[in-house]
Amino acid sequence: MKAKKLKEGIYWVGAIDWNVRNFHGYLTQRGTTYNAYLIIDEKITLIDTVKPGFENEMLARISTIIDPSKIDYVVSNHVEMDHSGALPVIMEKAPNAKIITCPKGDEGLRLHYKKDWDFKIVKTGDSISIGKRNLQFVLTPMVHWPDNMLTYVPDEKLLFSNDAFGQHLATSVRFDDEYPNDITMLEARKYYANIVLPYPGPVRKALEATANIDIEIIAPSHGIIWRQNVEKIVDEYHNWVSNKVDKKALIIYDTMWKSTEKIAKEIQYIFEDAGYAAPVFNLQFNHMSDIMTEVLTAEFVCIGSPTLNKNILPSVAGFLTYFQGLAPKSRKGIAFGSYGWGDQSIPKISEFLKNSGIEIIDAYKVKYIPDSNDLANIRERLTEKLNK
Ligand code: FEO
Repeated sequence: MKAKKLKEGIYWVGAIDWNVRNFHGYLTQRGTTYNAYLIIDEKITLIDTVKPGFENEMLARISTIIDPSKIDYVVSNHVEMDHSGALPVIMEKAPNAKIITCPKGDEGLRLHYKKDWDFKIVKTGDSISIGKRNLQFVLTPMVHWPDNMLTYVPDEKLLFSNDAFGQHLATSVRFDDEYPNDITMLEARKYYANIVLPYPGPVRKALEATANIDIEIIAPSHGIIWRQNVEKIVDEYHNWVSNKVDKKALIIYDTMWKSTEKIAKEIQYIFEDAGYAAPVFNLQFNHMSDIMTEVLTAEFVCIGSPTLNKNILPSVAGFLTYFQGLAPKSRKGIAFGSYGWGDQSIPKISEFLKNSGIEIIDAYKVKYIPDSNDLANIRERLTEKLNK
């Protein structure tokens, strides 16, 4: 278990989680990593730790460089336990170490671990010398917890960005130039869509705060380290936070007897005929977190469910709950579905979308099985809306 050198005296000492497949409902089909970094200077400094259960993997990597008891500072950029979970073990090994964190980090770590550790509190603009190098701190609250901060090493042009710019991606290599970039970018997009999306204001502030610093390497707390595509991933964050959408309509549904599916297919064909990309996602076969990756750049979100017991199908309800929490901005929506004797699913979907901030442009319901007249009617109404 080797540490991996980023720069002279700076090492990745994290852990690789090859098997994790569920991260709070997010399908991590490629696993993830918990990235911790070690800086060898007059003050030995550890940047973040790893998830509980991976302590020994991190300690083994640190031990290839230095005795863990020699750690002087532990920078905690984020309280969430995938990064702070090994603090108790580190603090046991290095009881005199100081934990450097922001005020919300101090509060969160005390509430998590109930330990009287030696905390040094920093705020944006503060700088700490660790010997030849300085650490500068930028607080980035709500990207995506109140306690998030970035640590920048100007002498190395190195930004430890914690969750920002991360990807859930387990790999044997550590750098973006060593791995297929399309996969890294796809996983970065998925990460943004499923974790960072609800916080556009804080993300904008974080991007502004880092706009004028010289960055050669972005070392996030998950996945691949950016050194070849720094500009590209920062540009993508600017695009995603600005809510730029493609000419794309998503059709997301579940179906009982394929009647709602017939409506879904008609909506797909209408959008395609109007020049839109129109990917279709049956919720029986597609994971909600993969669908959210597509939502990130979609202009329209069309959601369908038949009525079941005066309600919507549980798969659609689950997706809408997840969608509402992530709250994508500036999208247009359509509700659709078939019904037998009660048509409750369609107003329920419309209400859900409205409460998520989506502009509803229409709703289509069909009693039992759609025939050619029903589908023609939907075509006429939707085509008219798209031509407006
Ligand atoms: Fe990777 Fe918010 O923790």
